[in-house]
Amino acid sequence: MHPTAVQIFDTTLRDGEQAPGISLGVKEKLEIADQLARLNVNTIEAGFPITSQGDYDAVKAIAEDVASGPDAPVIAALARCARGDIDRAASALKGAARSRIHVFLSTSEIHRRAMLRASEDEILASTAESVRHARTYTDDVEFSPQDATRTDHDFLLKVVDVAVEHGATTVNIPDTVGYALPHDFGVLIAEIVGRVGDDVAVSVHCHNDLGLAVANSLEAVRNGARQVEVAVNGIGERAGNCSMEEVVMALATRADLLQRSTQITTTEIARTSRLVTALTGYPVQFNKAVVGRNAFAHESGIHQHGVLQDRLTYEIMRAEDIGVAGAQIVLGKHSGRHAFAKQLSELGYELSDTELARAFTRFKELADRKVELTDIDLEAIVADEVSASADDVFELESLQVSGGTASAPTATVRVRRTADNVTIDESAMGDGMVDAACGAIRRAVGIEARLVTFNVAAVTGGIDALGDVTVQVDVDGRHISGRGVSTDIVEASARAFLSAINRSVRLRHRVQTVTDTP
Ligand code: KIV
Ligand code: ZN
Repeated sequence: MHPTAVQIFDTTLRDGEQAPGISLGVKEKLEIADQLARLNVNTIEAGFPITSQGDYDAVKAIAEDVASGPDAPVIAALARCARGDIDRAASALKGAARSRIHVFLSTSEIHRRAMLRASEDEILASTAESVRHARTYTDDVEFSPQDATRTDHDFLLKVVDVAVEHGATTVNIPDTVGYALPHDFGVLIAEIVGRVGDDVAVSVHCHNDLGLAVANSLEAVRNGARQVEVAVNGIGERAGNCSMEEVVMALATRADLLQRSTQITTTEIARTSRLVTALTGYPVQFNKAVVGRNAFAHESGIHQHGVLQDRLTYEIMRAEDIGVAGAQIVLGKHSGRHAFAKQLSELGYELSDTELARAFTRFKELADRKVELTDIDLEAIVADEVSASADDVFELESLQVSGGTASAPTATVRVRRTADNVTIDESAMGDGMVDAACGAIRRAVGIEARLVTFNVAAVTGGIDALGDVTVQVDVDGRHISGRGVSTDIVEASARAFLSAINRSVRLRHRVQTVTDTP
């Protein structure tokens, strides 16, 4: 018997991107969307088009470019219950083979009072009108009563009824503030599933404020939910969203009890996780379930002994099923442009000529310093180039550092301002090499940016591994993340620092309209 499939609705590019400090450009979003299509998610929520021109452009590009066809993902866009939002979402989605408009409206008493100043009757009227309006554009409309789990129970059911009556084909129950507990949530979902009938899919969207997003989503599935909303690496507002990799692998590993499958190509999970880490600058904790670097590592002698005899002694999933392969050496400094392009294409990257040229130059620089590069190194280079070439205002042309323990560390940088192609040379001294490099960059760009957190990891093993630096930088009181990769840790740090500054400039240009009430 085939278990009934659960639809995976991925919101990495919408809710995931709302995590503090993340700001993805159109190119980065397209790269992630392509990978989500390879992962075979059912729906990609590509953005919230009314919030900014950048979001609109990204949704439009994804709707037009991501693979089409009967098995290709549906592209969704978010809209508040407001005509302007819905029209903008519909316009951005025009190019998609299959599209969904996702409308939401707060229903809990606290949201209604503090944010909307709307009565229950007004909420019901707005729900009806907005779902009807969205249906004029597409017959695939999802409705979410925001803060559902803190909404008065009977009122929530009324809102759901109205949404269904006016044409919602999916009713999503968001645990917006991660307040639900598995048992209660399961009971609520069973009641809603029973109420809406077979023609309407019940979905859940769980946040992780109490660390229960995956548990709540699984309980919802056990109680008849047909869709779960997830984000890669669990990123999203505050403590994040239900983690894609955890819920998918829980469904796969415990199919004996849950009896529900997904259509996810699980061997793409590790790669998707790495790409999202690379482009968002949000590192994954070492002990993160499924995709953390320790997820298949064994430290104690007893465990190592067991695993050497039979991996199943201490592993409930196969690393190969998630796509965690040993890093194989694929290219070195004698590899040519053709071999480089071929390897990238086998990895699924289709770069333009300019991007390929840039990535190849970067590859050559690194291959000169690091003798052999693996697929994982190549992914890191491409991700670095994709994020660097998006809408960057500044580019790091060169960096020199001198001094050390005996004399004060000094850094000299050359930064290019892309808008007018002007190069700026600056130097600074610092407490250490990284501090000096950041100081010189700060002077060159003329932006007061302060390093708040700093993390270094190796992309792969070995003494000549690429260093992968992720940082959080404070610009005008906002914490922005950045990432840089190089064989040289100071250069990786400088790249990460500058990438955070570029993101901060992008964020500054974003039109902030989301705080308006519908
Ligand atoms: O958390 C939430 O309630 C949301 C909705 C827009 C679905 O993200
Ligand atoms: Zn959310």
